[in-house]
Amino acid sequence: MGKYIINGGKTISGKILLSGAKNSALPIIAASLLTNDVTVLNNCPKISDTDTAFKILKQLGTDIDADGNTIIINSSSADKVQIPENLVKKMRSSIIFMGALISRFGEGVLFYPGGCELGNRPIDIHLNAFKKLGAKINENGNKIEISCPKIIGTVIELPFPSVGATENIILASVFAKGKTIIKNAAKEPEICDLQLYLKKAGAKITGAGTDTITIEGTDKLGFAEHTIMPDRMEAGTYLMASAATGGELYIENISSYIIKPVTDILSQAGCNLKINNNSIYLKTTKHLSSIPVISTAPHPGFPTDMQPQLTTLLTQAQGTSIIKEEVFDKRIKHIPELIKMGADIDIKDNRTFIVKGPKKLIGTEVYSHDLRAGAALIIAGLLAEGRTIVNGSIHIQRGYENIETMLTKLGADIKFSEN
Ligand code: UD1
Repeated sequence: MGKYIINGGKTISGKILLSGAKNSALPIIAASLLTNDVTVLNNCPKISDTDTAFKILKQLGTDIDADGNTIIINSSSADKVQIPENLVKKMRSSIIFMGALISRFGEGVLFYPGGCELGNRPIDIHLNAFKKLGAKINENGNKIEISCPKIIGTVIELPFPSVGATENIILASVFAKGKTIIKNAAKEPEICDLQLYLKKAGAKITGAGTDTITIEGTDKLGFAEHTIMPDRMEAGTYLMASAATGGELYIENISSYIIKPVTDILSQAGCNLKINNNSIYLKTTKHLSSIPVISTAPHPGFPTDMQPQLTTLLTQAQGTSIIKEEVFDKRIKHIPELIKMGADIDIKDNRTFIVKGPKKLIGTEVYSHDLRAGAALIIAGLLAEGRTIVNGSIHIQRGYENIETMLTKLGADIKFSEN
């Protein structure tokens, strides 16, 4: 099991260019299965989640070539309908291939992803939506077989704006007979990127970024070349790392509106930010202020994927902050680790934490149980006194391309060790 070894106390400052967004790349990689032609994806992040997604595509019979961060996918030879269980277990987002499979082949087989470190993560919204599109679902133990030879467009109102379910319905209905309307759709920017890719390939889809998305069934998709949008969670993580260590950071390639829910909170915490359309400059003030109450919410609310990193930052803020996790029922695994380092955090229940600061953190050995918890612990290690060992690098590598190289460039003393 790999780990990161950090000697804390260095300021994180400098200039960065973001990688492509994981949460945009994954559904677009799944969408490439819809065409019999070639898809070229530029700025595809080299992370283990995209690696798993490519393994799934290969298992389904697709050819893939890579040239750096450019990936060339040829799905014309795809002929399998089952996503192997080990890959579903490795990456919960494998569920996103289901919509693509039933669109392309009228059937698909996958396995329940099971619980995860963020709590119970059911897939009922996905399955109910497939049923509304005409699918028959047969559940046999852990195995789910979906058959949908004829997909008929309809109106689907989501009980919660699930990101994955919104994307799955889009993928499932690209070739549907008639029109599919998703109401209470998720509005995340990555769904706009998926729409952009699909439109280039010939799909008829409008409304991404709003709560109503309309897909008009079409006959076939063709060649498309697309550049994956920059990763707003990577941007937010480095902004938090810089803010927590008293640094200055310039991000050269981000649309300010997609990161506004994060920059608003950083401003509220006392950071100075200069925001242009396509760049952000952050300079930390001497004393960070607490945030009286902050709740996570679907976009454009404060993203749950930034909650752990914000928790670390708020250990350094003057006063009491209350963090409410409203998206996942148990996204708390970073908190006992932060407490080990000296943070004063009271877990009220699995969704509410009270952070009192500022508290000096002291380096020790901690465990990252999921991707963003890992990022939060790396930030804690950067600001802590002494040496921090963050175990569980496998989770961090799911979503950050060369985090140690990027942070070293920004002034950190961080090393990756395989064992
Ligand atoms: C996506 C993101 C993930 C982010 C999350 C919330 C990707 C690859 N991943 O995950 O990084 O943290 O959005 O912004 O884009 N739910 C149900 N039933 C369902 C589906 C979801 O109850 O069928 C619940 C989940 O348990 C969770 C909430 O809805 O509590 C949000 O989940 P969802 O928006 O679906 O997240 P993902 O698409 O899995």
